[in-house]
Amino acid sequence: MTDHVKSSVHTKGPFILAIAGGGSTYTPGIVKSLMVKLAEFPLAEIRLYDIDSERQNVIAPVVEKVIRDHSDSIKFTVTSEPEVAFSGAHFVFAQMRVGQYSMREQDEKIPLRHGVVGQETCGPGGLAYGLRTILPMVELIDLVERYADKKAWIVNYSNPAAIVAEGVRRLRPDARVLNICDMPVAAMRNIAAILGVDRDAVTVNYFGLNHFGWFTHAFVDGVDRMPELRKHVAKFGLLTEDAAATDPQHADPSWVKTWRNIQPLMEHFPEYLPNPYMQYYLMPNQIVEHQDPDYTRANEVMDGREKKLFAAAAEYKKTGILSDAFHVGVHGAFIVDVARSLAFDLRQRHLVMVENRGAIANLPYDAMVEVPAYITSQGPEAITVGKIPLFYKGLIEQQLACEQLLVEATIEGSYEKALQAFTLNRTVPTMQHAKAILDDMIEANSDYWPKLKKAFVDGV
Ligand code: G6P
Ligand code: MN
Repeated sequence: MTDHVKSSVHTKGPFILAIAGGGSTYTPGIVKSLMVKLAEFPLAEIRLYDIDSERQNVIAPVVEKVIRDHSDSIKFTVTSEPEVAFSGAHFVFAQMRVGQYSMREQDEKIPLRHGVVGQETCGPGGLAYGLRTILPMVELIDLVERYADKKAWIVNYSNPAAIVAEGVRRLRPDARVLNICDMPVAAMRNIAAILGVDRDAVTVNYFGLNHFGWFTHAFVDGVDRMPELRKHVAKFGLLTEDAAATDPQHADPSWVKTWRNIQPLMEHFPEYLPNPYMQYYLMPNQIVEHQDPDYTRANEVMDGREKKLFAAAAEYKKTGILSDAFHVGVHGAFIVDVARSLAFDLRQRHLVMVENRGAIANLPYDAMVEVPAYITSQGPEAITVGKIPLFYKGLIEQQLACEQLLVEATIEGSYEKALQAFTLNRTVPTMQHAKAILDDMIEANSDYWPKLKKAFVDGV
């Protein structure tokens, strides 16, 4: 079928683009990437949409300045009204953070109090974040479908992406949503730097779930350079000589540690190159040992990236001078590339989340997997991976069941399924840990989670 060719592009542009989660610290960087690629992805209007208008109003002048440095003609709109944000829009970039950084802090600190990994998207923290995000994401999809162009695409960065993708598949299977993550592409940038080639010169093969997968090959000019990478990783992990120059977004000391941890991971399982997030599942004890339960990554981000951007915004308001306060890099460039490929049916090859449908032959048909895909105007066409070895299959199936149970817990409001999801996560050692963490999290998330009911009360 060549359907995608017939009904491909809604318009050749210029496009109306809405950014949902306009108040994010990532917004200026994404908009800068849009400006850099304006010739290839023409824009008529950029709309920032956020339910937290106060926060968005702090970021908006910075975004407007970034736009005006490149274009006088692009209309710029800042709104908390869905109708204003989405009417006639051709693309929506979604990057919501339900509960903002203060809830991320809870996601990280509550498990740590019980001696369990405290992380934004992995372990109990990721599950808690999933319970907060699935239903608001569905609300966003419904609003976009109500107001936007009928062929509009939502390109979604909202975390925890694996769980969000599964929730969307279950609740809105026909929605034009493409779930993406910048972690593989950030790793690819390091891979390219280590091999001394341009990022575009590297073609990878990869399989897994989001934040739970492995690179199997890294081809440059048709030659698999994985043997060379193994040698580098054995000494330095996936760290490049100058992390900040390779990818400023992932260069804080905690990220440097994460890149280094690829070394022990590959020392044990040298076959494939793991996604950095595998550290939380395969070496949780060391991770917990090195985490400070009173000062987690959320604190680092609030005291670092967020503070710096807010200060620059205040300074800009006062002086009209905008300092270099945000990262322009892989995160923004990737979402713009994906949108371009959707818009113009470019069939570029990117790692994205898709329903498996046989791409990984020995995983369930309906699993939401992360694999290479050609991005067409009708969405991603997954590239066949074939069968994966039993060790990886076993790990993935456990994680998949955990994430699917969490989605079912959210949809059904089931305490038991939430407890099963928490228990099934590899970072959680016992059912007692799972229950203690879940119960604390129910309390901390009372403003956000659907009510979880117990089917069996007092053993009856
Ligand atoms: C990577 C992941 C994102 C995650 C981010 C956290 O980019 O792909 O899913 O949100 O790291 O970074 P941060 O600097 O906020 O800890
Ligand atoms: Mn990610």
